[in-house]
Amino acid sequence: MKKISRRMMLGAMTTTGLVTVGYIGLGMPQLAMADEMQPLKIPTLENGYLIDGVRNFDLNLQRGQSQFIDGVSTPTYGINDNYLGSTLKMNAGETVQMNVTNQIGRISTLHWHGMHLPAAADGGPHQLIENGSTWQSRFEVKQHASTFWYHSHVMGETGFQVYHGLAGVIIVEDENANSLGLPQDYGVDDIPLILQDRQFNDDGSFAYLATMHDSMMGMKGDKLLVNGTLKPFFVVKTDQLRLRLLNGSNSRIYNLSFDDGRSFHQIASDGGLLEKPVQLTKLTLAPGERVELIVDVSDGKTSLLQSTSPNAEQGMMGSMMSMFEGGTDGFDVLEIRPATGLATGKKLPQKLADITAPNLNAVVKTRKFVLDLGMGMAMMGGSGTMTINGKSMDINRIDEVVKLGTSEIWEIINPTDQAHPFHIHDVQFRILDRDGQPAIETERGFKDTVLIPAGQNVRLFLSFADYADAERPYMYHCHILEHEDGGMMGQFTVVA
Ligand code: C2O
Ligand code: CU
Ligand code: CU
Repeated sequence: MKKISRRMMLGAMTTTGLVTVGYIGLGMPQLAMADEMQPLKIPTLENGYLIDGVRNFDLNLQRGQSQFIDGVSTPTYGINDNYLGSTLKMNAGETVQMNVTNQIGRISTLHWHGMHLPAAADGGPHQLIENGSTWQSRFEVKQHASTFWYHSHVMGETGFQVYHGLAGVIIVEDENANSLGLPQDYGVDDIPLILQDRQFNDDGSFAYLATMHDSMMGMKGDKLLVNGTLKPFFVVKTDQLRLRLLNGSNSRIYNLSFDDGRSFHQIASDGGLLEKPVQLTKLTLAPGERVELIVDVSDGKTSLLQSTSPNAEQGMMGSMMSMFEGGTDGFDVLEIRPATGLATGKKLPQKLADITAPNLNAVVKTRKFVLDLGMGMAMMGGSGTMTINGKSMDINRIDEVVKLGTSEIWEIINPTDQAHPFHIHDVQFRILDRDGQPAIETERGFKDTVLIPAGQNVRLFLSFADYADAERPYMYHCHILEHEDGGMMGQFTVVA
């Protein structure tokens, strides 16, 4: 009800040309806010600088103050910024060096989510950066063109640090993708959308983990920030818009569609372009996942990207469930306003990339991973009791040892009554099947994070190439950050 009324009021405002109208009596949150839309913030594009052919990025983890709500200041973390980080652009095949300086006043790390690299360069919980010091990570970009991201990954503190802003987008380009004529003018027809729900305290600060419910279910907020913008709109000047969506939320799953029901094309999943564009009217995006979409706005009409309640289809019971699970769960994501006299865009190619089928003959081993919520974490005073295969994360224990140059099947089993996005470091895997049903078209490409709905078993195909290190492990974990911090994480090494 509330959602519809707001939307209708917004519609009325735009047609009458009124700019600001506060709305009253619709259960206003304590922090008063004008119902005014803001231009979408676009993270600064950072190309780094070349030294002897190596692309260097200087990244400063810092504290800042951000104004998400008019006149209200929120203490935040950012990377070369007050909140979130610059978008880092790099090319497949080149070597990059990340020079990460920590100035947030507490220990941190920076992990390159989705990147295939040596364990020592991964930026996980083993590559801690003391406050005041600099960590260097150098690796070759052995990726397909896609959208990756980076974020803090400190044992037990990932949720807190990411929530406060330690995250950013990475764009990898390659020759194939550059030859397709896809929109790729950053900030103009190619824009990142970092989706994050946030809960605010009355003093404007982020309210992180106020209740045990937040720890068990994952932290959720009642306001949606997109690139750190509340109620954003974007004016598009071309008839094709490429959206690089990143679910950078701690735990919320988004169900995305347009308010006018328009279709769009998904062109990429986590780790690369799909074989061909797939036409959709809605999609689900779980924490850690990315998709690239092409939206056609040549009709010149304003459209609203929205996220609907996952329980909406379940009617009355569904909305009661939503209330029970933490209230608001429908959001306006982005209003897209086409400028007048749109430039003519290009045609979407029929084919995007060659994607070979997983070679099941190469599989040498099948491993099973059973997820469990255990007793929760808040009850135990923060030390995790959530598990994978009955074990809570222990930084001194290697759970799995994999042989370099082999392929395996990992079966992820979720007997809990909650969905978990499962993420594996170092590899881009392929989804074989869900409860025995073959992967759908949009899940046949490269993935590093996969949503496992309650009660489901998903089988993944993984190949371990290039890097071996018997000492330093990679992580696999639930990307609900409160579950990761709560112990639903394990470690594997790749050995020669
Ligand atoms: Cu996005 Cu282990 O992380
Ligand atoms: Cu990762
Ligand atoms: Cu989980």
